[in-house]
Amino acid sequence: MIFSQSKNYYFLLIFVALILSGCSRKKEDAKSDIEILLEKRYEKLLTYSVDSLAFPRSYSYKANAIKKVPSKDWTSGFFAGNLWHLYSLTGNQDYIEKAEEWTAFIEKEKFNNRTHDMGFKVYNSFGNGLKIKENKRYKNIIVESAKTLSTRFDENIKSIRSWDFNKEVWQFPVIIDNMMNLELLFEATKISGDSSFHKLAVTHANTTLKHHFRPDNSCYHVVDYDTLTYQPRMKVTHQGINDESSWTRGHGWGIYGYTLAYRYTKDTRYLNRAIATAEYFLNHKNLPKDGIPYWDFDDPAIPNAPRDVSAGTIVAAAMVEIYGYTQEEKYLDYSKKVMTSLKSPDYILAADFDAPFILDHSTGNWPKNDEIDEPIAYGDYYFLETLIRLKNIN
Ligand code: GLY
Repeated sequence: MIFSQSKNYYFLLIFVALILSGCSRKKEDAKSDIEILLEKRYEKLLTYSVDSLAFPRSYSYKANAIKKVPSKDWTSGFFAGNLWHLYSLTGNQDYIEKAEEWTAFIEKEKFNNRTHDMGFKVYNSFGNGLKIKENKRYKNIIVESAKTLSTRFDENIKSIRSWDFNKEVWQFPVIIDNMMNLELLFEATKISGDSSFHKLAVTHANTTLKHHFRPDNSCYHVVDYDTLTYQPRMKVTHQGINDESSWTRGHGWGIYGYTLAYRYTKDTRYLNRAIATAEYFLNHKNLPKDGIPYWDFDDPAIPNAPRDVSAGTIVAAAMVEIYGYTQEEKYLDYSKKVMTSLKSPDYILAADFDAPFILDHSTGNWPKNDEIDEPIAYGDYYFLETLIRLKNIN
C-alpha cells in the first residue's frame, strides 16, 4: 500500500515535471522564433545591394517602394550605422565590409555647410566605424566635418544654426534635434586636441538649455533667434501637431542630447535636464502601456493616432545611459519595456518583407503627411543601439 502510494506520488511528480518542462520549452521556442525573425530581418540589411546614390531611408506603403535618399539627406548615416551596430551585436564580420562600403559614400558630406545635420550623417557612420576599429582616415573626416559644422555657429546668438529654408519666416532657427550634433564636436576635440569644438558644443548646449524648455520640462521644437537682438523671437514647431505640443521624437532628441552632453562634460545641469525631460516623458498620461509613444503626446486623435517607434527607441537608448549615471531602475525598466514590446511580430517586419528595415510603425513627418506609420531606418538605428547598450550593461 505504502509502496503503491509512493509510486503514485512518483508518477505525479514526473507528470508535473513534464508539464513544466513543456511550458518552459514553449517559452524558449517563442523567444527563439523572435530571435530567428530578427536574424532574418538583419540579413535583409546585409544583402541589400550597395548604391552610393541611394541610401534606404524608409518604406512607403503608399508607393509600395523603398524611399531612397542621397548622402546630403539628414538620414543617410543611419543605414551604415545600422550595419556597424549589427556587427557589434552579432560579431559577423560581413557586416563590417558592408558598413565600410556604405560609410565611404558619406565622406563628401564633410564639406556640406548647408545644413546642421552633420552628427546624424557623419558621426553615425564614421563615428560608429571608429568604435569598431582604429581608422586614421575616419578620424580626419570627423574633424573636417566638425570644422564645417562650426561655420554655422553664431558668436552672438551662441548657437549652431539648424536650417536655411523658410527664410521669409525664420531668421536663425535652432531645433532641439541639433543637440544630436554635439557628439561629433566633442569627439572632434578628443581626436584633434583642438578644444574649440568642445567649447562650441558647450555654448550651444547652454543656449538651448536656456530657451528650448518649458516650465513643465517639455520642449519646443524650433526656437527662432532674432539676428539683431540675439534673443528668441518665436518658439514654434515644424514637425509637431502645434507650437505648444509635445512632439515625442523631439523630446527624444532632447533627452538623448543632454545625456550625451553630460557624458563629455560631467556638467550636472545637463544630466538634470535630461532627467527632468525623461520624467516628463515617462509620466505623460498619453504614454501607452507598452512604452511606444504616439508621434505627438497632444494629438487629439489619441488613442487612434499613429505611434512613433523611433521616438521610443531614441528615449530607450538614452535611458540606458541615464541608468548608468543614476542607478535608478525605472530608466532601465523603460528601456527594457520598449525592447520587449518591439520584439514582437506586431512591430518586427515579416521575414519575407523585401526591404532593408527591421521595425514597422515609425512616423517621420506627420504635418507633411510623410512617412506615417512606416519602417524608418532611424527607428532601427536606436533599437539596435539600445540592444547593444543593454548587452553591455549585462
Ligand atoms: N530632423 C530630425 C527629425 O525629423 O527627427
